[in-house]
Amino acid sequence: MVSRRMILKTGVAAIVVLGVGGGIWAGTRNPDRALAPWRQAGTGYGDARLDALAYAVLSPNPHNRQPWLVQLIGDDALDLYCDLDRRLPETDPFDRQITVGLGCFSELFRMAAAEAGYKATIVPFPDGEPSPRLDSRRVARIRLVKEIVKKDQLFDAVFDRRSVKEPFDISKPIASTLLADLVSGERHGGTVDMGVITGLRELSWNAHEVETLTPRTMQESVDLMRFGKTEIEANPDGIDFGGPAFELMNVTGLMTRENVGDPASTSFKQGMKIYDEMLHSAMGYVWITSAGNTRTQQLIAGRDWVRLNLRATQLGLAVHPLSQALQEYSEMDELYAALHKSLGIEAPSRLQMFARIGYGPRIEPSPRWPMKTRLIKA
Ligand SMILES: Cc1cc2nc3c(=O)[nH]c(=O)nc-3n(C[C@H](O)[C@H](O)[C@H](O)COP(=O)(O)O)c2cc1C
Repeated sequence: MVSRRMILKTGVAAIVVLGVGGGIWAGTRNPDRALAPWRQAGTGYGDARLDALAYAVLSPNPHNRQPWLVQLIGDDALDLYCDLDRRLPETDPFDRQITVGLGCFSELFRMAAAEAGYKATIVPFPDGEPSPRLDSRRVARIRLVKEIVKKDQLFDAVFDRRSVKEPFDISKPIASTLLADLVSGERHGGTVDMGVITGLRELSWNAHEVETLTPRTMQESVDLMRFGKTEIEANPDGIDFGGPAFELMNVTGLMTRENVGDPASTSFKQGMKIYDEMLHSAMGYVWITSAGNTRTQQLIAGRDWVRLNLRATQLGLAVHPLSQALQEYSEMDELYAALHKSLGIEAPSRLQMFARIGYGPRIEPSPRWPMKTRLIKA
C-alpha cells in the first residue's frame, strides 16, 4: 500500500543511503515556523480575545485556506470577516465550505473563551446573509463577557485534533457504540455497516476521480500545493507536502506543480493510487446535515463538524472529510444526487459535511498562519 507515510519512509531510507550529509539535511526540513501557531496557543497575549483567537486559528477548514479575518472592536468585541481572496471558486462556487470552515472557527473561539472564563455571544451575519457568494459583510459579531461559564470537555482534544488523510486500519472495525456517541445529534448521521460502506467507498472514489480529472478543479488544488519547507513556511496554508521525502521528490522533478496535475504523469498516477487505497480503507462514515442551506445553517454545520472531529479524537478515531460529492459544479451533479439519495437526504435538507472514519496513524499538525497575521489593522 502506498501512502504519504510510506513515501516518507522511502524518502528517509534514501536519505540514509545519502549518508551523514543527507541525514543532517533531512533533520533541518521540518517546517517549524509553519507549525508555531500550534505551540503559541495558550501562551497568553494579555487580551482574552487574542487568547481565544490563537486557538480558533487551529480550526479545520477547506484546503487549509484559513479564510478568517478579524477586526477587534472596543475592549470586548470583534468582527469576523471572510478573506475573499481565500475562497475556492472552482470546487466551492457558492462559498459553502468556506462558510462551514468559518463556523468551525467561531466554535473553537467560543470554546477557548469558555476555558478562560468568558462567555462568547456570537451574532451570525449581523448585516444580512450574503448570497449567492460571500461578500465584504461581516460573518459574525462576537462579544466576550466575563462570567461563570461551563467549560467544554471537548476542548481537551484541541491540540490532538487532525484531519487524517491516510489509510485506515481495515482489520479494525468500529464499534456501533462509538458511532452512536459520535452522531447522537439531530443533524448527524453515520454508518459502520459494511454493506453500506462498500457502496460509499465506491461513490467517494468516483467523486475523487471527477474532481481530479476535471482540469479546472484539479488545477485549483495544484495551485495550492506547497512543496518542502521553504514553500510551506512562506505560505503556511493550502495542501502541504512537507518533510525530506516530498522535498527530495520535488527537487528531483519526480513530483512538481507542473506534472502532478497531468493525468499522463507518474506523479498523478501515484497520487490516484494513494487515494484509491485510502478511500477504500474507510471503516465507516459520518455526516452532518442541515434542514436548508442558509449561511447561518452553514455556520452551524461548522460548529457541529469541529465538535464531531474533537469527539472522534477523544474516542481514538480518525476522521477524514470527503467533500468531493458535496460540491456544486455541473460535472459533480450526478454523484451529488447519488450521495444524497443513498443517505436518504431529500431537498431542502442537504449534506454539509461527509467524512470517512476509522483507526488511523498519528500525524503531524498542518501549517497555520500566525494569529496576528489574520488581524485587520485598525
Ligand atoms: C468544510 C470542510 C471541507 C473539507 N473537505 C475536505 C476534503 O474534501 N478532503 C480533505 O482531505 N480534507 C477536507 N477537509 C479537511 C481540511 O483539509 C483540513 O481541515 C485542513 O487541511 C487543516 O488540517 P487539520 O484539520 O488537520 O488541522 C475539509 C474541512 C472542512 C472544514
